[in-house]
Amino acid sequence: MIKLEHVSKSYSAGIPALNDISLNIKEGEFVFVVGDSGSGKSTLIKLLLKELEPTEGKITINGKDLHKIRRKQIPRYRRNVGVVFQDFRLLKDRNVYENVAFAQRVIGTSTRKIRSNVPTMLSMVGLAAKYKSLPKQLSGGEQQRVAIARALVNEPKILLADEPTGNLDEKNAWEIMRLLEEINKRGTTVLVVTHNMQIVKAMKKRVITIKKGVIEKDEVPGDYSDED
Ligand SMILES: Nc1ncnc2c1ncn2[C@@H]1O[C@H](COP(=O)(O)OP(=O)(O)O)[C@@H](O)[C@H]1O
Ligand SMILES: [Mg+2]
Repeated sequence: MIKLEHVSKSYSAGIPALNDISLNIKEGEFVFVVGDSGSGKSTLIKLLLKELEPTEGKITINGKDLHKIRRKQIPRYRRNVGVVFQDFRLLKDRNVYENVAFAQRVIGTSTRKIRSNVPTMLSMVGLAAKYKSLPKQLSGGEQQRVAIARALVNEPKILLADEPTGNLDEKNAWEIMRLLEEINKRGTTVLVVTHNMQIVKAMKKRVITIKKGVIEKDEVPGDYSDED
């Protein structure tokens, strides 16, 4: 599903942000990516979204060599990869319904389908009743739920999350992680970058630790501990 072979990414001369990364994530997996600030986690996410090209190595997603995807095909590729960020990135002047519907409009989904899909997604994230609210009228946790609904409305096979709980308190962080776990149980492959080690320890998933651009550890579910 997600395969990296000897992938490196340098922004400029000097130490690369990612250095000879190889990893394999299977369909249906839930994977945490952890590591200090500046270790290359967001760079990894950007490579998977084809926002950046690797300096070296090969990335294959859903059987497709990312390097071979033409510029014109990138929007279609990205439809199969949902993404959420720490800062939610919602449209501030649009209500909850419109924020999710927008993701469908841009790919030409019919209004009829949008009217049926958006409420389904909002129910899934527990926000059906708030469809008319503006982002500023929602808590951080609720805003992240909207972002998750938007990321999933086009039914991507993969969901990437770059520090999705970074702006949330402990209770909301847990709720978002449990929601991501639920989404994974329904079949989506989920990759979550996080600093919340307490949650990582408790959830017993596969944990990939990145340190200064290299994979320091890759632990199977339940194996993660903070002891060296
Ligand atoms: N656009 C950029 N230009 C130059 N250097 C960058 C850029 N983005 C990230 N870096 C550098 O690459 C390294 C990894 O960054 P990043 O992937 O954002 O790490 P993380 O998400 O783990 O904090 C850092 O040293 C950072 O300063
Ligand atoms: Mg980052």
